[in-house]
Parts: sequence; C-alpha cells; structure tokens
Amino acid sequence: MLFKKKSSVIDISHVPPALDADEAARIGYEHDRTLSKHAFYEGEHPMVRIEHLNKAFDDNVVLRDINLNVWPGEIVVVLGPSGSGKSTMLRCINLLETPTAGHILVNDQEITDASKTNVHKLREKLGMVFQSFNLFPHLTALENVMLGQTKVLKKSKEEARIEAIKQLEAVGLGDRIDYTPSQLSGGQQQRVAIARAVAMHPDVLLFDEPTSALDPELVRGVLDVMKDLAYNGGMTMIVVTHEMGFAREAADRVVFMEDGVVAEQGLPEEVFDHPKNPRTADFLGHIK
Ligand SMILES: Nc1ncnc2c1ncn2[C@@H]1O[C@H](COP(=O)(O)OP(=O)(O)OP(=O)(O)O)[C@@H](O)[C@H]1O
Ligand SMILES: [Mg+2]
Repeated sequence: MLFKKKSSVIDISHVPPALDADEAARIGYEHDRTLSKHAFYEGEHPMVRIEHLNKAFDDNVVLRDINLNVWPGEIVVVLGPSGSGKSTMLRCINLLETPTAGHILVNDQEITDASKTNVHKLREKLGMVFQSFNLFPHLTALENVMLGQTKVLKKSKEEARIEAIKQLEAVGLGDRIDYTPSQLSGGQQQRVAIARAVAMHPDVLLFDEPTSALDPELVRGVLDVMKDLAYNGGMTMIVVTHEMGFAREAADRVVFMEDGVVAEQGLPEEVFDHPKNPRTADFLGHIK
C-alpha cells in the first residue's frame, strides 16, 4: 500500500514483524544509552517500544517510520512544530488512534495486535493528561479522582477515596477535594487531572501539552507537580510540551519531531545547545 506526502512516498507493506524482546532490548540499549540520562541497567527492557510506526489519515501520512523506546522511569519530552505528529503519536500509544502499520509494545506485549489486546486493560496501564483537562464538570475533584478507580479498577469506594485524597494532597489540593471543576482554576483542574491519572497507577503517563491552555501564572504549579512525579514518583513519562525549562530540567531525553519523523533525539543539553539538525535549530530559535 502506498501513501503520498508532498514529494515522498512510503511503502508500509515492508514493515517487518516486531523484534524479539531480548534482541529489541539489546539493540535499544546500544542505540539509546548515549542519548538519555536514564540509568540503564544490564538486561533492562523498554517499557514502551515503538517500531516502524506509520499513521495516515486517508492519503495524509502523519507518522512515518517512528522508532522509539521509552525505558522504565525515563522522562521523554517530545518537541516539534504544529502538525508534526506529536499528538498523533501519543494517541497511537494508547490506541485512541489505530496505527496504519508498525508495532507498539508495552512491557513487551504488542498492543497493536488487535486480536490480543484488550483496549480497556491497556488504557489502565497508560494514563493520559490532556491540554483541556477533561474532568467531569458535575463531579467534585474527589469524585473525579475516584471514578476510574471504582469503575475500571473495581476498587471499593472507601479504597478509592483514600487513594484519591492521597493523590489530591500530593498535587497540593487537599483542601479542595469537594470543589467542582468550575470552582477551581485551570491550574488546579489540571492538577486534579494529573491526580486522577496517577491514582490509576499506570505504567506510563502521557502528557499532551498539559500547560498550554493555562494562564502563565498557573503553569508553574502544574510543572512542579510533574517534576515531583518524575523525580520522586519514578514515573515513566512521555511529555509533549513547549516548556523548555521543564525539558531542560526534567527530561532524560528530548525527541524532536518534524513532518512525521523523529528528526533528532538526545540529551536535553545536546539538543538545546548543539542541535545537529538545522530544523531543530530553527524551531528552537523560534520558541526560545
Ligand atoms: N483525526 C484526524 N483526522 C485527519 N487528520 C488528522 C487527525 N488528527 C490529526 N490529523 C492530522 O495529522 C497531522 C498531525 O497532527 P497532530 O495533531 O499529531 O500534530 P501535533 O504535532 O500534535 O500539532 P500541535 O502542536 O498543533 O498540537 C496534522 O496534519 C493533522 O491535520
Ligand atoms: Mg498536538
């Protein structure tokens, strides 16, 4: 099957089967060890493995042959111009979009094999925080954080309540648990959304521009919560953001996407201070 994009054509019929888990871990380690601050240990396997991911909407090719590993506890920040495919990649990882070709594996389980994947089980492992919070407006902060736990994880109300209070306290909202979203600031709502995602104890948290809908003075509180998760929570995170300060401070690796491909990736200081790809340099020049 051929897809055209501008002058390029990709042929997705040649995508090979997913690699064997041990082989993928070895190859991934060799590839990534100089590109990330992650403390690799011998024999470690990636938490998320993306191989030859392609995504097209009709004949518009949006992702082309993406290959990326995310290691347990690693913080990967994804940057790139509007339309480069960042959101689409995140949405493929939790199967909000169906990849056109390629493989995504979480803990060596292929999630892109529809016959073997229980999408609901998968989403328990992959928490997502959106730009627009997506809280239920008629529920309090506490109820928002309890809901997934009781409905999806089948926890008792009491267990869910204890966990919800713990996570709301962790994001600094212990005194706001009975407020509804309309009674909270945007930053507070986003912190509720983060608490809700963390309360599900996912393997990986995906963030899609979590601060870009917020007034500038509210951004810091949300970034502080994310940094705390990264440093103290040991959470594996893939974060699409234009917050360069966060990327410099918290990222183990920065991935620059351009026109549906990973154009460059590496240590934050390398990518920011010595970008190898002129497109990366150009992009960073515009947002600094
Ligand atoms: N559901 C969809 N149907 C058709 N095209 C889509 C759909 N979702 C995304 N696209 C297209 O895919 C391309 C990449 O979009 P995507 O949202 O992944 O970009 P992005 O890098 O997240 O951009 P931004 O920084 O603006 O959020 C765009 O050309 C967009 O129009
Ligand atoms: Mg986007």
